[in-house]
This record gives sequence, structure tokens and C-alpha cells, in this order.
Amino acid sequence: MEKREQLYEGKAKRVYATKDENSVIVSYKDDATAFDGTKKGTIVGKGVVNNKMSNFLMQILEKQGVKTHYIEELNDRETVVKKVEIVPLEVIIRNISAGSFARNYGVEEGIVFDKPTIEFSYKNDDLHDPLINSYHAIALKLATKEEIEQIKAMAFKVNDVLKDYFLGLGVKLVDFKLEFGRTADGEIVLADEISPDTCRFWDKDTNEKLDKDRFRRDMGGVEDAYKEMMKRVFGE
Ligand code: TMP
Ligand code: ASP
Repeated sequence: MEKREQLYEGKAKRVYATKDENSVIVSYKDDATAFDGTKKGTIVGKGVVNNKMSNFLMQILEKQGVKTHYIEELNDRETVVKKVEIVPLEVIIRNISAGSFARNYGVEEGIVFDKPTIEFSYKNDDLHDPLINSYHAIALKLATKEEIEQIKAMAFKVNDVLKDYFLGLGVKLVDFKLEFGRTADGEIVLADEISPDTCRFWDKDTNEKLDKDRFRRDMGGVEDAYKEMMKRVFGE
């Protein structure tokens, strides 16, 4: 499959048309942003890590019955995926307190929850991705009630599968953000990416951060953290 015209450029990826109207090619960049794009930088090799890791995880999820946009990896940075209309929701699952949860609710990071939590943000940089609940999402016509129910069930299933998978690699899956899309037939599939950009990964024994928080918080060792996650997943 070959790239045709660029359809879209996001903060971390570009999307290209293909000869098939139902497929697009995603190309992962090394560009990193945080805080609505106000903090900018480069994480060398990140595009390769995120492309390969996301594709690998989506294939694991497909085997467990989670429908995804994944079709075929073309090379280190490019993948053919189903063309979808992105549902403008960031779906966040948390197993352990961290980040905005700790900040918003005044608790320390690292509290292990009895049950995972789910929350939605309205994907809108101008509004700074505000938290919304499922009633707001339906009122705003971002998704139907049925779609929201399906998205919730899929998100928890992703957590069940990936939490165990990462623990087997000595990594705690603290929290993560998912995005979903509608295919041409109106089917809801998991879209976007699952990577150190969109997940918090902590080493099981040391709680060392192995994800984009090292960039967000200027902790250093950013590239090494991405490399370490690559090594845990692919053993190289
Ligand atoms: P938060 O604690 O900052 O709300 O982040 C929750 C999870 O969502 C965390 O794993 C990082 C991920 N995330 C994104 O993928 N994109 C974003 O824009 C933000 C703010 C968080
Ligand atoms: N990529 C996001 C942004 O620039 C933020 C993040 O991942 O923290 O808005």
C-alpha cells in the first residue's frame, strides 16, 4: 500500500490517504508535546517505539476479541489502519492514582484501586480537553448511548488484557488513554495508539517511570524509558 495525499497532521502522527477509500496510513513522528501542545520537544526514536508497540498490543487485543483499527505494519514508522471517524472522547482507565487524578482529588500517586476507574474527556484542545460524563457526551452528540456503553465495555476489556500482559513483563499499567473510531459500516473500533505516550508504565519493583511522564515532568532519561519499554515488549 502506498501513501497518497496527507489528510491530517496531528501532534505525534500524520495520516495519509491510500488507494483504498476505507484505509489510511498513519506515520509516527518523534515530536512530543504536553499540556495542550504548549510544551514541545523531540523524543528520538519515539515514533518507531510507539508504532511497533501499538501494533503489537492491538494484535494481542484482537485475539482477545477487541476490534481495532489495525490492518498492517508497513515499516518502522508506518501502519495501514482502517479509516475511521474518531469519536471525540479521550477514554481514560486508571488502576493506580497518578497525574490529574492525584491532582484533582488531592491524593498521592500510587494508591492501588480495588476496581479500575473510567473517565471521559472531550477531545478539544481549545477547551483543554475538559472532563465530561457520559450524559454530557450524549447531550453533545459526541456518541450515542449504545456507543458509550460499547466503548466502556471495550475499554475495561483492554485493561483486563493489558494489565496482566504488562505485569508479566514486570510493568504496572497505572493508567492509559484510549480513543475509539467509527468505521464506514458504523462499527466502533479501538483507534489511535497504545504506547508510552498514552499509558503510564511503572516498573513493578522500583516504580521507576517508563513513559512520557519523564518528558512532561522534565525528569531526563526519556529516550531510555521508551527503549526499556521496547525491550520489555520485544526482548531486544
Ligand atoms: P492524566 O492523569 O494526566 O489525566 O493522564 C491519564 C492518562 O492519559 C495517562 O496515561 C496519560 C494519558 N494522556 C494522554 O494520552 N494524552 C493526554 O493528552 C493526557 C493529558 C493524558
Ligand atoms: N499530547 C498532549 C498534548 O500536547 C499532552 C500529553 O500527552 O500530556 O496536549
